Amino acid sequence: MESGVGMRKNQTLICAPLMADTVDQLVELMHKAKLKGADIVEIRLDHLKSFNPQGDIEKLIKECPLPTLFTYRPVWEGGQYDGDENSRFDALRLAMELGADHIDIELKVPFYPEFENIQDCLWKGVCPGQPTIEELVSLYNFRLMDSDTKVFGIIGKPVSHSKSPKLYNRAFKEDGVNGVFVHLLVDDVPKFFETYSSSDFSGFSCTIPHKEVALTCCDEVDPVAKVVGSQHGASGIGSPLAGKLFIVIGAGGAGRALAYGAKEKGARVVIANRTYDRARELAELVGGQALSLAELDSFHPETGMILANTTSIGMQPKVEETPVSKEALKYYELVFDAVYTPKITRLLREAEEVGAKIVTGVEMFIGQAYEQYERFTGLPAPKQLFKEIMKDY
Ligand SMILES: NC(=O)c1ccc[n+]([C@@H]2O[C@H](COP(=O)([O-])OP(=O)(O)OC[C@H]3O[C@@H](n4cnc5c(N)ncnc54)[C@H](OP(=O)(O)O)[C@@H]3O)[C@@H](O)[C@H]2O)c1
Repeated sequence: MESGVGMRKNQTLICAPLMADTVDQLVELMHKAKLKGADIVEIRLDHLKSFNPQGDIEKLIKECPLPTLFTYRPVWEGGQYDGDENSRFDALRLAMELGADHIDIELKVPFYPEFENIQDCLWKGVCPGQPTIEELVSLYNFRLMDSDTKVFGIIGKPVSHSKSPKLYNRAFKEDGVNGVFVHLLVDDVPKFFETYSSSDFSGFSCTIPHKEVALTCCDEVDPVAKVVGSQHGASGIGSPLAGKLFIVIGAGGAGRALAYGAKEKGARVVIANRTYDRARELAELVGGQALSLAELDSFHPETGMILANTTSIGMQPKVEETPVSKEALKYYELVFDAVYTPKITRLLREAEEVGAKIVTGVEMFIGQAYEQYERFTGLPAPKQLFKEIMKDY
């Protein structure tokens, strides 16, 4: 067993780069890295404010609880060392003689890539978007990965807010599924599929702003997804939504799904969207009415209406934004927000304050995850586990 994270299948090592002003600080960081699950540490000699090669390297090797890799990076390679090359190589040679497990030798080559902000990245320990050691080990089950591991992910931009990796990776581990679920920050969906067409890429979910483009890249589309946008005139007899005025803010993927669902349950659907033409298009498809966002505050033909926000308005980090004024919310009986980071958005907080029932995006998130998990794995979704993971959000 490996430090409480299951049997090790993956022989790839996790290396923690360590940078500090003093040798004592480096020693402290080595122990921290071990606790977090690193297999090896990269000791960046070039960041030391004062450096006595013999004594310092000896101490670093003696006190290090993990195998060592010594790096003495010069300024021309993005490091901090600006002395002469002979002294740099002497220090690395000495590290080898004193028992370093590895040394990193940087030689000048005619061309090398320039990394902007490399200093920032190094000081933070990881580059933007790069997972931390804890995330690799605990979130992505890194120790369990091997060459047969199937890759799943969520495509979006932004995408780091998505809780899907937390949900699926825990479930994969508990169900013994050899898979990993990652955030995929994608600009151009067709190009992404051209580039990442490997057979280990086994499934993906899609979020803002790519849902509709992703649909156009599929060879086959599930009939339900196809129908979202073409269904008219369902009755919904017996449904609590039957006859209700159901306002959907947004005309993207989530907006379409909700508008279609509400129509099916017999609601009268109104679509309000930033781009009015898209509101009109969707309203025509579901047989409803279209509004611009600006009209929403003064639109209250009756009380007891239902409101569903399916835009990203109010999502972290812009948590102070809301699509409708608090004043207008008093006409609604129930308010739902698809945004689930934060769980209680400003829209939901204000809706509750004026007496409306609220439904959070977390509930939708868990519900859609059940079906996705079953499609990804062919196994029944661990519903209780999903609820437990999400209960703190
Ligand atoms: N809880 C869940 O399980 C769940 C599931 C799916 C989605 N979501 C959330 O729902 C939201 C929409 O996702 P999606 O996949 O449907 O995205 P999408 O297909 O890209 O649609 C985005 C919609 O939001 C509107 N919009 C975006 N930024 C806006 C802004 N600053 N002001 C006004 N309107 C804006 C867009 O209007 P235009 O037409 O004018 O561009 C469009 O109607 C996201 O926040 C996502 O996280 C939650």
